[in-house]
Amino acid sequence: MNRVLSVVIFVVVSIGAAILLMPEQKQSISYTVASPEEGPLSLNRYCPPGFSQDDEGNCFFESMYANYTSIQGSGLGGLKDGLPEIRDGFNAKVIDLGRFLFFDPILSKDGVMSCATCHDPKKGFSDGIDRSFGVHGEKVARSSPSLWNVGFLDRLFWDARSNSLEEQAEGPLFAADEMGNSPEVLLKDMNANSTYSRLFIEAFEGRDGDMIELDQIVHALTAFQSTLVSFNSRYDQYALGYHEALNKNEIEGLNLFRSFVARCSECHTPPLFTNKQTAVIGTPITQGLPYDVGAEETYKEPTMRGAFKVPTLRNIAKSAPYMHAGQFSKLRDAVEFYNKGRGHAVPKDQTVRVHWHIWEPNLKQNEIDRLVDFLGTLTDESFMPKTPVQVPSGLAMVSSDEFQSKMMNKQTGKPQIAQSVVTTGKR
Ligand code: HEC
Ligand code: HEC
Repeated sequence: MNRVLSVVIFVVVSIGAAILLMPEQKQSISYTVASPEEGPLSLNRYCPPGFSQDDEGNCFFESMYANYTSIQGSGLGGLKDGLPEIRDGFNAKVIDLGRFLFFDPILSKDGVMSCATCHDPKKGFSDGIDRSFGVHGEKVARSSPSLWNVGFLDRLFWDARSNSLEEQAEGPLFAADEMGNSPEVLLKDMNANSTYSRLFIEAFEGRDGDMIELDQIVHALTAFQSTLVSFNSRYDQYALGYHEALNKNEIEGLNLFRSFVARCSECHTPPLFTNKQTAVIGTPITQGLPYDVGAEETYKEPTMRGAFKVPTLRNIAKSAPYMHAGQFSKLRDAVEFYNKGRGHAVPKDQTVRVHWHIWEPNLKQNEIDRLVDFLGTLTDESFMPKTPVQVPSGLAMVSSDEFQSKMMNKQTGKPQIAQSVVTTGKR
């Protein structure tokens, strides 16, 4: 490994470690380290912050949690549980290529939107509305999940219908109601773009004349998304030994979260804040939409009717509205849902088996507030990737706000966000 590279890696790793160890560090900060050569038309050959680099330029996730093991590798939710396996080992240049692709509208039909239009870094890699608008301005059935720490997941989509990021990416790209593209058009457009041709050859060490292939596009998107890690929150500082990182209210919230009364951590298990399973919690339906059967469809299993993926709660304060169809616009409402009685929101005409950890905790109003306080300590965007200044296609990047206002004008001229929620049964 050349010396410059070693120095850069050393700096990146030391800063990562320092953040986790530094007691006075309470706010998350952003870095420019590891992107010394940032420029729209060349690929960064250094790994993103939080990753170390080997001689071949491949990037490996580094975390203090590696010092903690968990029983049977699954974790019991204590402060000293380890993390599950992450997808890593991707080449730095491939990761950076994935970053350009993620922000580039060339991936969609007629170049109207990119992945980042629905997974906007400014909105916790979600899009701030209940259900996303697709390429034609119709709302899709579900809400856009945050992509923070998505590299740890092996069940993707709200109904867990995909098992890998590669498989997942083809969903939005070619779904008529999302990005609306086709493999033929996508590959034609990509191969007609000389900048991309050059960058793909550089990233994948191809030869002149090599054509861009779909699996390379999907691989690069996977590589980039796997680097969206967030483990420097105030909660992490607390869990890793700095007691003052959380205040009294937040510690009370953490204790409620872990308690056998609230039972949150049995599904939202630290440190990932998901046990990577699916569960039926009995969320309300959105007015005008048919009942979403969730994972029943995926597994062809009636007991999983209404089951959804347990989402991570990291950066949860950033990704409102909440639940699979954005049923709750405020975090407090999403938390209070658990206190309103088991199955209270399940439509009367539906028979679902609500998970046994969902029950009647009878939390006081101030305890609900403490849970919300605690969830706020899970915010950390210090490893936020840079939004490119310009994307290789030369198309203008499309933010979630721009796209949504265009789609809302197109429809009725009125905002459609935050539809009211139907709750049936007792409240
Ligand atoms: C039209 C808005 C939209 C666009 C564009 C879009 N997504 Fe999504 N994405 C969603 C929605 C909505 C879901 C949830 C769908 C579901 O669960 O049925 C989702 C789910 C995902 C998931 C699963 C996350 C999880 O935790 O289960 C990943 C990963 C993802 N998208 C990545 C991408 C990538 C990569 C692109 C670009 C190729 C992209 N998305 C483009 C809206 C979008
Ligand atoms: C039985 C497992 C289980 C338990 C226990 C549980 N959750 Fe959840 N949680 C889920 C599932 C599944 C979802 C997604 C449901 C949906 O979208 O319909 C969810 C969603 C959420 C969301 C919204 C996340 C997002 O990205 O939109 C929040 C916030 C949340 N839970 C907080 C809590 C809190 C606080 C507790 C304890 C009071 C708790 N959960 C207990 C399984 C659980």
